[in-house]
Amino acid sequence: MRQIIIIVFLIAAIVGLVVISFSIKQVDQEEKRLSIDLQHRSTLLAESLRETVEPNFINKSDEYLQTVVEKFANKERLVGLSIFDNKGKIIAVSSSLSKETLEPQQIVSDAMDGDKANGDFVTLNDSNIYIFAVPLHDKTSVVGALMVAQNAGYIDTRIQEIWRNSLMRLSIQVFLLSIAAILFLRWVIHKPIQNIVESLKSTRIGDKSKQIPNNPFFQPLVREISNINRSLMEARFAVSEEAKLGLDKVNAPWTAERLKEFIKNVLKDQAILVVSNREPYIHTKNGGDISYFFPTSGVVTAIEPVMQACGGTWIAHGSGNADKLVVDNHDRVKVPPHEPKYTLRRVWLSEEEEKGYYYGFSNEGLWPLCHIAHTRPIFRKEDWLEYKSANEKFAKAVLQEIKNIKNPMLLIQDFHLALLPTLIKKQRPDAKIGIFWHVPWPNSESFRICPFRKELLNGILGADLVGFQTQLYCNNFIDTVGGELESLIDLEQFAVTRNGHTSYIKPFPISIAFYNGYLSEPNDKSGELDSNNILKTFDIKTKYIGLGVDRLDYTKGIIERFKAIAFFLNKYPSYKEHFTFIQVSPPSRSKIKRYQDFENDVKTEVEKINAMFQTKGWKPIIFLKKRYTHKEINEFYKIANICLVTSLHDGMNLVSKEFVASRSDEKGVLILSQFAGASRELKDALIINPYNIEQVADAIQLGLEMKESEQTIRMIKMREVVKIHNIYRWSAEFLKTLSSLA
Ligand code: G6P
Repeated sequence: MRQIIIIVFLIAAIVGLVVISFSIKQVDQEEKRLSIDLQHRSTLLAESLRETVEPNFINKSDEYLQTVVEKFANKERLVGLSIFDNKGKIIAVSSSLSKETLEPQQIVSDAMDGDKANGDFVTLNDSNIYIFAVPLHDKTSVVGALMVAQNAGYIDTRIQEIWRNSLMRLSIQVFLLSIAAILFLRWVIHKPIQNIVESLKSTRIGDKSKQIPNNPFFQPLVREISNINRSLMEARFAVSEEAKLGLDKVNAPWTAERLKEFIKNVLKDQAILVVSNREPYIHTKNGGDISYFFPTSGVVTAIEPVMQACGGTWIAHGSGNADKLVVDNHDRVKVPPHEPKYTLRRVWLSEEEEKGYYYGFSNEGLWPLCHIAHTRPIFRKEDWLEYKSANEKFAKAVLQEIKNIKNPMLLIQDFHLALLPTLIKKQRPDAKIGIFWHVPWPNSESFRICPFRKELLNGILGADLVGFQTQLYCNNFIDTVGGELESLIDLEQFAVTRNGHTSYIKPFPISIAFYNGYLSEPNDKSGELDSNNILKTFDIKTKYIGLGVDRLDYTKGIIERFKAIAFFLNKYPSYKEHFTFIQVSPPSRSKIKRYQDFENDVKTEVEKINAMFQTKGWKPIIFLKKRYTHKEINEFYKIANICLVTSLHDGMNLVSKEFVASRSDEKGVLILSQFAGASRELKDALIINPYNIEQVADAIQLGLEMKESEQTIRMIKMREVVKIHNIYRWSAEFLKTLSSLA
């Protein structure tokens, strides 16, 4: 409050100073202008009268002169006239002139003595009068004078008016500016600072509920403080888990800190490199502004927290239109951009390479091959050649990065880079290479479709460790290798030996970083969408909310899910107008025809179902084709009564784990496909077959009617699973296994 008074006082002083100095100048100019005007008018009058007065003065026509001076008495600002002879005697005088007015004879005598017009302002009886005299002549000399007396009081009145106006303006300005300053200080400075303080305070006492609302005036500060908050929360979480670790070393969850210690002490700070197609930060340019975003990708969601904890280098395809603008001469950039913790090395691919390697071979060939979702894989020779050359490009970048590193540990991610393990191993046999296959591995019969299967398997088997999401995929892989390549298979060790090199095949179900509650991404634009305003934002009026969060991909069972919703509304009509399903879907791989068709099919299905059921002010499905930030998705998770994961086939599905992690309220029901890897771990979800529409519809009903106590029991169990089997544990186990291999 004291500060506000001081600031208001300062504003008043500054505005006052400015207004007063301007007013002084204005008053001065106005006074000058009015005086000059008065003098000018007096001169004109006196000079014009002189011509009439002079002959009559000489002829001594006093009576006439008296008539003349009377005529001008009390006219507007003219007080009166008088005529003097050269002795100072009054010859004629307006009756309006007071005695005092006739006294300033000096002005008149000076006019006669100097034989030139003379005038001055005098104060008589508290009135300001301007006296002006012109000499009268006969043919040779000055014989008298004509005196004009003008009222100059109006000049003072005008000056006072100016001051009055200025003071009034000053008070209004000070008042308005003070109000504006108070509001500004309160809402723009005081309130946000208070929010920041509150948020820091709540972080200090371990309460994560208070996020700092975004404020355009304090953006860099808010970002920095959010980072500090985040680090503080992470550290608090780590410390508390470390404390538990002391009591129960086996079951205590892995944390970022524990992983760091593990790498330092057990792996002796061995350099770790990750290679994937998708990069964790994509820089984009909008006008002159460069920004970045987190792509929607299971690989990125899982691996990024590990890289933040361990440091090292992540090699990936630079796919953003501003990616080249932010790298150094070696195509490297430190990330996360707001708080660098590791290096991102970008690999550039031409449009042609991207088309063949990424869209073609990876996503039209391998993706449908690995997912049994009844989309035919397409294998083109030209795509295969691009796939090979892109893998070679990645290999070149990896070899550059590990040039000076002895025994580097390489974690290759996913189906885009199947040839990389052998390409690297040939050049650097000392490298410990692990490849993790995030998607399913199909049965050997299905895999036989691929014309390039032998080369792919050969590429993968360059790795020392081949990781899959489930034991079933490991079995499928071993079967596939057995059927395709000459090799020694050890079913006890689950290892394949070929050309003298052994690869171990093991399941490592991937996960997420689990915090007790949600930690915002530093670049999250908070404040735009939160659980309290989602329904209002999308104009949803409903009692129950269902949620689906998936890339727009045909493997996710989105259409089957919608059909199940329609079935549910028909079978349980009391839910009409009381249940709304929100489908959040960022577009994905949209250059591929199959994905374009799929998007159209999804839209058509939504329209069809909505048209079938909608009533005034309600519709069953809200379809949001947009990429939201992690923070925003988390807000969706928080309001959902049920979350539907109906993948037709899915390696793991991290959405199911994210939903569970976000529900610190221990409420909400997860409906999970039996064909998602996550169903092996999240056994307390309602497990469904997405092709069985009625079963899914019944699960929706069951979920919505489940008692809160049962929801909590299930949620606590699932949260425990995700908390213990988090991504830090996943990476520690993967790295431990990899480093233990000879
Ligand atoms: C799956 C794949 C990832 C991929 C992600 C997103 O999770 O296993 O490798 O990154 O989908 O797909 P995108 O093609 O956009 O990288």
